[in-house]
Formats: sequence, C-alpha cells, structure tokens
Amino acid sequence: MSILIMNGPNLNFLGIREPGIYGQENYGGLCEQIEKKAGELGIDVDIYQSNHEGDLIDRIQAAYSDGTEGIIINPGALTHYSYALRDALSSISIPKIEIHISNVHQREEFRHTSVTAPVCNGQIVGFGLFGYDMALEAMQKMVEKNK
Ligand code: DQA
Repeated sequence: MSILIMNGPNLNFLGIREPGIYGQENYGGLCEQIEKKAGELGIDVDIYQSNHEGDLIDRIQAAYSDGTEGIIINPGALTHYSYALRDALSSISIPKIEIHISNVHQREEFRHTSVTAPVCNGQIVGFGLFGYDMALEAMQKMVEKNK
C-alpha cells in the first residue's frame, strides 16, 4: 500500500513555531514517527512538505498517476482559504484524510472553517503529532475496504 503524506506551509517549522500549540518535536522527528508507524503497518509512505500552494497542487496531480492509493494532508493555513488546493484534492478519487495537529476549533474564528475537509473522507483534529499515526491506521482500513 502506497500512501502520500503531505504537509503544507510552515509545518517544516515544527519545534520552532509556537511550541505551546504545536509541541517541541521538530519536522524531522515527525517524519521519523510517520516512517516508524508506516513500517509497523506495512505501508509505503512518501512524505512531502512545501510552503508553496502550487507545489502542493502539482504533487496531488502527480499522485493521480504514480500509484498513490491514499493521501493524508495537513494543508496548514491553506486549509482555511485555498479553493485551488480543494479543487486539486477533489480532482482525484482516492481516499483523503485531512489532519491538524492543534484543535483548530478551540482557536481563532478563521481556523474554524476548512474549505478542504468537505472533499476529504475524514478529518483528524487536535491529537498532536499522534494524529498522523491515527490517520495512517484509518487510511489503511479505508484503502483495504475499497479494494
Ligand atoms: C494546522 C492548523 C492551521 O490553522 C495552521 O495554519 C497550521 C497548522 C495544524 O496542524 O494544527 O499551519 O494545520
């Protein structure tokens, strides 16, 4: 099983940005955690991060034909306003899970809206970095069920 994990703007700054909200662990640590969990589940993961909307869209479009079977995406702030990212996600029919490290519903009003969640199969919010492990388990079940 081949799963794409995508992280949007500023997620490469984990451990540096607002540690009271996002925690002390850095982005490299998150990648290691994802690789470990994927290994336990027997899933192949490609982990991709970009600060650029167009690059994220290009990677989603590439997933259409590169054998990717599911996408787990933390779009960062693009979640709240990027119709272009939403259109890219809705272009491909493989399962998609949106994830947020923080509980966006406890934060500023603008974070309560997700324009991308409606084109994803599910959303995981507020469980810190552990949410990526949860998303991998959920994705595995979803992909297997679709087979
Ligand atoms: C985030 C929440 C977003 O509102 C924010 O812009 C981020 C991170 C999260 O993982 O909690 O960059 O997606």
